[in-house]
Amino acid sequence: MNVTAFHDVVLVGGGGAGLRAAIAIAETNPRLSIAVVSKVYPMRSHTVSAEGGSAGVVRPDDSLDEHAYDTISGGDWLCDQDAVEAFVKEAPEELLRLEHWGCPWSREPDGRIAVRAFGGMRKMRTWFAADKTGFHMLHTLFQTSLKYTRVVRYDEWFAASLLVDDGRVQGVVALELMSGKIEAITAKAVILCTGGCGRVFPFTTNANIKNGDGMALAYRAGAPLKDMEFVQYHPTGLPFTGILITEACRSEGGYLLNKDGYRYLQDYGLGKPEAKPVLRSMELGPRDRLSQAFVKEHEKGRTIETPYGPVVHLDLRHLGEQLINTKLPFVRELCLKYQNIDPVTELIPVRPVAHYMMGGVHTDIHGATPLLGLYAAGEAACVSINGANRLGSNSLPELLVFGARAGRAAAAYASSAAEPRSAVLAQAEDERRRMQRDLLHKIDGRERLAPLRDELHQSMEQSAGIYRSGNSLAQAAVKLRELQDRFRHVALQDHSRTFNTELMAALELSFMLDVGEAIVESALRREESRGAHQRTDFPARDDQRFLAHSLVYRNADGSCRVEYRPVTITRWPPGERVYGR
Ligand code: FUM
Repeated sequence: MNVTAFHDVVLVGGGGAGLRAAIAIAETNPRLSIAVVSKVYPMRSHTVSAEGGSAGVVRPDDSLDEHAYDTISGGDWLCDQDAVEAFVKEAPEELLRLEHWGCPWSREPDGRIAVRAFGGMRKMRTWFAADKTGFHMLHTLFQTSLKYTRVVRYDEWFAASLLVDDGRVQGVVALELMSGKIEAITAKAVILCTGGCGRVFPFTTNANIKNGDGMALAYRAGAPLKDMEFVQYHPTGLPFTGILITEACRSEGGYLLNKDGYRYLQDYGLGKPEAKPVLRSMELGPRDRLSQAFVKEHEKGRTIETPYGPVVHLDLRHLGEQLINTKLPFVRELCLKYQNIDPVTELIPVRPVAHYMMGGVHTDIHGATPLLGLYAAGEAACVSINGANRLGSNSLPELLVFGARAGRAAAAYASSAAEPRSAVLAQAEDERRRMQRDLLHKIDGRERLAPLRDELHQSMEQSAGIYRSGNSLAQAAVKLRELQDRFRHVALQDHSRTFNTELMAALELSFMLDVGEAIVESALRREESRGAHQRTDFPARDDQRFLAHSLVYRNADGSCRVEYRPVTITRWPPGERVYGR
């Protein structure tokens, strides 16, 4: 087996969390060598598409405790409160650090950082760079990472498995897309920063690259996935494409209207139309409640039918062209290019769309998983600060705070850990042969990727969408087992080595099947409704049985088992979620 290289730490994923972690490692111990293995060029990572902003307390009328409380109540009390306390304290420090690295935050006329309201946040604390916040943050991190000569990039390399020996992770097996070579990149520690898994669902804001790669890598290596039943739907995606229309539209004063032009959210306990200021407006309720209200509105026959499913309207017309051009220029551009409408004069059709995974690889507050040498950060991880429902604009600061923490922890570990053992090379060779035998060179399989992926999508949407039931989830569990079996009979049509995107799609689909099973199995066992997990057969929150994180483990035969661990409560005992007052 060829070893491409040895590094002290391998980062899988070159988005916001990965680059922040890389910088933290280089700053913690400049002697360490750091590899960033990313299946896309870093600036094409999904962080780039984040629009609305990044939360962090900065105004004198706000406080860390209020940010913590909003996050915890928004998460329906499933957040670990020690993690939330660390997060709210470090978020403003990280955002300021980004400012010093060159991030062009939008500003008030007097020069202060501008902040906007965001859903479920009762104070203005969301920093933004117009409505291209993710682009500017990623650009800043990427440029900063270039300063560190010990950071080596493996752009367009796909990490296919983790190397584990002697109870510790010692690198990855990766496919170089350009050449098709499959090699071991060994290391003392690995940090998974591959983002979420929205592509498990058919209609999502997520880029094609978000297939739950890091989650599946960890799960297959023996680390548990936490709280996978909690999938966030964003209330406003464009029909057909699923492109995100940022919540910032509503924080700037946009309305959601049903087919009668009525601001229907007033019927769902989220506030009154006359509520002022915008922070109290019903359109700025939390995402779980807004997406659920859409389903109810549809059931009442008050949505608008389109060839791409039912929609409601987002109305920005009263905001005026100047505000839209200044604060929401990207929204205007997206609407013009992808929907052929101008939000200055026309209503925007929108519907809920799978957006974010609250669950992920189980880590502690330093990004460490239970598997020695393995760390995770960003959407791929579950620390957990998001609980059962993330608040909009908490994920960008999360990837900074916990990317940095994971980087520092991995650097400390790698500074004294043993070198990788030669046994992992035999493992890597087995993995290379397996990929070639079972996928690249196989010619006699009867299954194709696209139908399997379509069936996965249908099953996930029908069973694990905004509302779920025991029956539909049980059916999905059977279906996913069937799809796992059928995947073994897949044959590719492309057997070439150079940029074999079909091979990559096959690896991604196998990851998505594992992640889909983890979602369905944990949703099936959680017999309550909390945040984004709404069971029609168990409509109430049940703190007696389920004030607990689910942990899904992979058994030796490939099936799952679900266990639970307590939620950490420090200062905020479970209470009622109240909005619009
Ligand atoms: O609507 C948005 O801009 C999304 C933000 C987020 O998911 O944090």
